[in-house]
Amino acid sequence: MADDAFTETLARLSIKSRSDYYNPYTRFAWPTEVPTERWWMSPEYLTVHGTGLVEDENVLRALARQEAINLFSLHVHGIRDLISAVCQRMHTPGFSEYNEYLHHFIGEENSHMWFFAEFCDRYAGGLHPPTAFPLRTDSRGDLWDDVATFARVLVFEEIFDFYNSRMGRDPRLPAILRDIHAAHHHDESRHVAFGKPLVRRLHERARETDPGRCGEIERHIKGYMSYSVRSLYSPRAFRGAGVLKPLETRRRAMAHPARRAFHARALARVNKYFVNNGILQTAWEDEDVHS
Ligand SMILES: [Fe+2]
Ligand SMILES: [Fe+2]
Repeated sequence: MADDAFTETLARLSIKSRSDYYNPYTRFAWPTEVPTERWWMSPEYLTVHGTGLVEDENVLRALARQEAINLFSLHVHGIRDLISAVCQRMHTPGFSEYNEYLHHFIGEENSHMWFFAEFCDRYAGGLHPPTAFPLRTDSRGDLWDDVATFARVLVFEEIFDFYNSRMGRDPRLPAILRDIHAAHHHDESRHVAFGKPLVRRLHERARETDPGRCGEIERHIKGYMSYSVRSLYSPRAFRGAGVLKPLETRRRAMAHPARRAFHARALARVNKYFVNNGILQTAWEDEDVHS
């Protein structure tokens, strides 16, 4: 995207954020309770789906509740870390043209953190705690750190959108859950429309100044993609749902061919984008999840 086109995109997205603006604190009708006999996640999105490892429907429904809470907790913890990295860049010389839109982005992510956490607090006794993040980030304070930050945001958002876009329309889910997924999907479509040209620009800028870190950043992005897949498989969720041999089942589920195909689908769009734009020289493969 040429500079002019990107400037236009930024202006258009900022206008859209203003016109779509909502008050997150009044946006949702929170029921007294969410029925546990309904699916809290579409069963096809459960981490054991297609593996035959868990057959008991009560356990599967309990796992759906646990994995919904895990997914929402991942958003809160993941975005908290990512928006703090974005905040550090706002109103600094290299980011001046993005300031207006970044205010919308951060404001919207703040709303998302609130409503995801609110659901967990109201109906599940709180968030799952954050898990250790194994990757080194922002190590040099140079242009490549900008690439790494916004590439992580993009990976994160694409995975979430893979879940939100479907579950926002699934009549098996209680209305409050459908509504949360649909609201998030609506905002995220703008964030991804911003993130893709931004990451490409930042990558071009960094490559011109220091091509030497290209490979390192490629490994970092792939590491984040693998970390993101692993984080969907929560030991706490498996235990909380009453899955037998939870750690072994979790490990076997993650390595199951049906699930590996699912991981590839969840990341297909962002993977293709990275390769087509020279950000990854070779596509991310599910193999990395297990190494
Ligand atoms: Fe979000
Ligand atoms: Fe977002």
